[in-house]
Amino acid sequence: MADLDDIREGKSYGVGVAQASDGFYLKGSNNLDWGMKDRLSRIFNPATGKSVMLAFDHGFIMGPTSGVERIDLTITPLIEYADCLMCARGVLRALVPPTSRKPVCLRADAGSTILTELNHNVVIDIQDAVKLNASAIAVMVAIGDQSTEAETVANLYNAVDAGLAVGIPVMGVTAVGKDMARDARYFGLASRVCAENGANIVKTYYTEGFEKVVACCPVPIVIAGGKKLPELEALELAYMAIQSGAAGVDMGRNVFQSDKPAAMIQAVSAVVHKNMKPADAFQMFNDLK
Ligand code: R5P
Repeated sequence: MADLDDIREGKSYGVGVAQASDGFYLKGSNNLDWGMKDRLSRIFNPATGKSVMLAFDHGFIMGPTSGVERIDLTITPLIEYADCLMCARGVLRALVPPTSRKPVCLRADAGSTILTELNHNVVIDIQDAVKLNASAIAVMVAIGDQSTEAETVANLYNAVDAGLAVGIPVMGVTAVGKDMARDARYFGLASRVCAENGANIVKTYYTEGFEKVVACCPVPIVIAGGKKLPELEALELAYMAIQSGAAGVDMGRNVFQSDKPAAMIQAVSAVVHKNMKPADAFQMFNDLK
């Protein structure tokens, strides 16, 4: 029963003070619903607008590649340094501690392995993403691939419909077209197609002229790290991407295949969130080692 006595009359109405109506800090996201913005805020630090996503979904297509043979031994110790975890649902349920309190960008398409050509991937039932409390789902699109482009674009489109229904943002993952040059023109096209089809985040690859890729993509872009590079080069890659306007990295092998993954992810985070120069971040890496 609510108290009926000592009800205090309101008196601070702020008459004459306009109600705050700030725009949302992420590009292209201002018109999204509250739940979408809340989830995006878990992924992208509101203080910097950036994110270090730790990608360890590689096993869903590559099997136990180096660094992800034992997620519990190699990835779990890195979780505390990541802003967001990107993985597939099997590994999430089996191995990621639910006490991690980190947002998850759930790998949400499946159907291919490295043993065959790119297949006709299916997309997760969105209710499973809800059950897993995903902060985003990631769906690959194969722009320029004759046999799967249409199907993977449709996958993205359907995933966006499903995500909108439950407030879960979608990250469009640009696959690398086999027959297309890996340049700003291609990645710009692929990223823009993802965004036009409703992706709320785009994951693509850094390339020369990346500022143009970012400029014409209306939603935040994060870059994949790609194959393992020497640490300084990987830090330079992250730095150039951030300087070109990327909203962060979705990095896997250049973290978990490093000799010192915990030191590496902290150095990457300094580049992403503090604009640390690569040489300083490399020094940080060596000091943390
Ligand atoms: C690619 O589609 C995979 O989903 C990886 O998550 C992504 O490529 C990022 O990992 P890496 O930095 O190892 O390329």
